[in-house]
Amino acid sequence: MMEKTLQRTSLQDQILKLKKDKNAVILAHYYQEPEIQEIADFIGDSLELAKKAAETQADIIVFAGVHFMAETAKILNPSKRVLLPDLNAGCSLAESCPPEDFRKLKKQYPDHVVVTYINCSAEIKTLSDIVCTSSNAEKIINSIPEDKPIIFAPDKNLGRYLRQKTGRKMLLWDGACIVHEAFSLDKLLKLYKQHPTAKIIAHPESEAHILKVANYIGSTSGMLNYVKNSENHTFIVATEAGILHQMQKDVPYKTLIPAPAKEDNTCACSECAFMKMNTLQKLYNCLEKEEPEILLSPQLMKEALAPIERMLELS
Ligand code: 13P
Ligand code: SF4
Repeated sequence: MMEKTLQRTSLQDQILKLKKDKNAVILAHYYQEPEIQEIADFIGDSLELAKKAAETQADIIVFAGVHFMAETAKILNPSKRVLLPDLNAGCSLAESCPPEDFRKLKKQYPDHVVVTYINCSAEIKTLSDIVCTSSNAEKIINSIPEDKPIIFAPDKNLGRYLRQKTGRKMLLWDGACIVHEAFSLDKLLKLYKQHPTAKIIAHPESEAHILKVANYIGSTSGMLNYVKNSENHTFIVATEAGILHQMQKDVPYKTLIPAPAKEDNTCACSECAFMKMNTLQKLYNCLEKEEPEILLSPQLMKEALAPIERMLELS
């Protein structure tokens, strides 16, 4: 145990030294392993990470997150080197929306405004009018003239939630996050019976029946703020379990219980296998070798930038 801690600390120290020597910045999502979060320059939700990527002065951005996040950072910084510790760190939402199929749908509804959740590929972004994240989605939808119908992709759960919140006519792509669709309502309600004073908080990528019983619905940062500012002591947290690290640091005296998954697994919670592909060792290797690097064609970056910039202007 002692040895493991020392070894880990030395690897973390080596990463921090390399980072300084190379003028690199490490941006990490809340779903990353705790030891990665601990050495990140900034931890945030998708919107905050995109904003940080847009304003960084570093020469190298190491993105401890998934592919679409690193891609967004590259689009915002075409001249910078953007590294992703594991290039296979994908996302079920991004994969659910192949550009060819999406192009066909778009053609059928030429009068629709296309809003895409940031969890999609750069090519899908080039087909979008405006991008959104879970923390600004409602605002983005409300910014669209009321008489305009909307195509929303790729997350049907977030889309359904937004349709309900805004009352807008929205055509939804049939995509979902495997992590947020893994929660069991039956198990959640049983857990709630054991902790009747708990507040249930959920990410809007969760299914409608989970959102229906939630006391608060919001992005990862929204959930963190809610738990910090609430007078309640106990929370059942329906999002990827990695968030519990930062949350518990923010409120060490509060009780945080991960929402249970349908299938029994090692953590009895829901973990994103894509996010967890990044390890401390891979982070060290990528910073040392300066690869794997996100490489995109200048044309693709130019076309994908416009809908991201529109989002940032409104955020
Ligand atoms: P946010 O951090 O923007 O809430 O997104 C959650 C998520 O699933 C990222 O992949
Ligand atoms: Fe994609 Fe879901 Fe993993 Fe986020 S948690 S990266 S939405 S699969």
